[in-house]
Amino acid sequence: MIATSMKRLVDVDSGIISREIFVNEEIYRQEQERIFTRAWLFVGHESQIAKPGDYFSSYMGEDPVVLSRDRQGQIHVFLNSCRHRGMKVCRYDEGNTPVFTCPYHGWSYGLDGSLVGVPRFKEGYYGELDKSQWGLVEVAQLCNYKGTIWATWDPKAPPFLEYLGDFRVFLDGTLDAFDGEDGGSEVLGGVHKWVIPTNWKFVAENFNGDHYHHPTHISVEAVGIGPGRTGEARHSDVQRHRRHMTSFPEKGHGWRGGPPQSLDEEIYPFPRFELPEAEAYFQAAYDRRKKIGAPSPPTWMFGGGGNVFPNASFHIAFPRSICVSHPRGPLHTEMWRWYLVDKNFPDAVKDHFRHYSMRYGGPAGMTEQDDMENWCYATAASKGPIARRYDYNYQLGLGHGGVHPRLQGAWVSDGEFSERNALSMYGHWAEMMDRAD
Ligand code: FES
Ligand SMILES: [Fe+2]
Repeated sequence: MIATSMKRLVDVDSGIISREIFVNEEIYRQEQERIFTRAWLFVGHESQIAKPGDYFSSYMGEDPVVLSRDRQGQIHVFLNSCRHRGMKVCRYDEGNTPVFTCPYHGWSYGLDGSLVGVPRFKEGYYGELDKSQWGLVEVAQLCNYKGTIWATWDPKAPPFLEYLGDFRVFLDGTLDAFDGEDGGSEVLGGVHKWVIPTNWKFVAENFNGDHYHHPTHISVEAVGIGPGRTGEARHSDVQRHRRHMTSFPEKGHGWRGGPPQSLDEEIYPFPRFELPEAEAYFQAAYDRRKKIGAPSPPTWMFGGGGNVFPNASFHIAFPRSICVSHPRGPLHTEMWRWYLVDKNFPDAVKDHFRHYSMRYGGPAGMTEQDDMENWCYATAASKGPIARRYDYNYQLGLGHGGVHPRLQGAWVSDGEFSERNALSMYGHWAEMMDRAD
């Protein structure tokens, strides 16, 4: 482990952070141990494993895992590595199976992870192998939150809802249906997956707290790739109330937007859609919101996205998406993007959002390409011996803002532009990195 304290590299009070934390191999190794084995990580969505026997292959940091549903309907997350010699017991992205059979020597595991079959059990192991001790390694804690599956390897980690704290309200905005139905979303299609040459924290930081990078997306705004109609702004122009930034210094989460607040004007909260089915759906959703007294205006009107520490980023609406930046060495990240839609969307509306999602995000998405260029060129220009001597500046809005009036443990900026969110994230990162137990 590295001798120096990470707090020497992350100076929250001065807004100065060393480039080493983005490029250094030893720091990266320590991150794998101290961040990714302890934090709650996003694994997948229950709509991806709807039936008994369904499975979905995912990752927790660098460790491959498999998310499965057993015959009783119970959800599990296992290390995708055979206990005999480590082969992946599941090599497919997703599917349905009665059993996971290792292709190497044939050990097989039930959907609950138990070792159920061992070739040559009698004549090779003389019936003496204690199968009960050699099941797949299961995560220490798992939480199904409104259909999203989160897991941690750390039995001492706080329960997921405590880990989220009051940040939960922003995740709710992403997981509830547009008409306010609790957890009324599901995954649309498959998952976008691609590898880019940057450190995972560049991605997490951008979602967590970079609301300053408007110049990056000028061309996309000029084209007008919005969700509703030709020429509309990205995310739609209804999200024009982002007046603050909110972060949780003790937890590392950040929200690129302000607190839920009342508006002094009556606002129709959705884009106007050219597609009649979409327009009808959202108008009905608006009426239902009013009728059931769903929090109005909805949280997502006040921001574009956030990040659950360490690497589960999300866009709250238009597109509604979860983006996990899996670490792949200090200089590479495997990006995975899930897109969420209301379960009750008519097929034509789902298809409309499928097109919008592709136009916006993923390896070919216009907005995502803008961001990726920055992260990748910044990484390339920060790893050389001279570049590494010069720290990054996080002083935007430094010293302005204060304790959030309603959300426990949260800090809120005075204005729209502040890098305090990133400092909260890296301050928490440094705490975890320095904690040896
Ligand atoms: S590695 Fe799986 S059975 Fe040998
Ligand atoms: Fe961006």
